Amino acid sequence: MNLKSKVMNSIVEIRNLSKAYNQGEIQVTALDDIHLSIDSSDFLTLMGPSGSGKSTLLHIIAGIDRQTSGICKVQNIDLSNLNESALADWRNQMWVSFFKASTLSLSSLLLKTLNFRCC
Ligand SMILES: Nc1ncnc2c1ncn2[C@@H]1O[C@H](COP(=O)(O)OP(=O)(O)OP(=O)(O)O)[C@@H](O)[C@H]1O
Ligand SMILES: [Mg+2]
Repeated sequence: MNLKSKVMNSIVEIRNLSKAYNQGEIQVTALDDIHLSIDSSDFLTLMGPSGSGKSTLLHIIAGIDRQTSGICKVQNIDLSNLNESALADWRNQMWVSFFKASTLSLSSLLLKTLNFRCC
């Protein structure tokens, strides 16, 4: 696959992403300069010990939280460039698409299961 088609199929692009939380006087680094590319055909599992930043990463990709630094692009949209209102619109759009896709896959799985049982 050439670089152009690779970029076009990419749904999540993360570069130099860091996230720090202030816990009182202490600053906790949840994500430290991470890089990640997720392709539309990828099926991934996120694993790591408790406190390693899994939820933090997913929150940033879902537009629920913002990184301290670095880039997070979802379907080529740089979420850090969106203001609060644009980010809320983007979340609405994304979740509607996500639930539509899940419902479709669920229906098709159900149909396949029913079909299988009829035969
Ligand atoms: N809202 C927050 N305020 C302050 N610190 C936070 C906050 N959310 C997460 N942290 C800290 O960031 C680090 C990563 O937390 P995170 O919840 O992302 O880990 P996790 O891998 O999802 O853990 P778990 O497997 O227990 O769900 C932890 O040290 C946690 O205490
Ligand atoms: Mg978690």
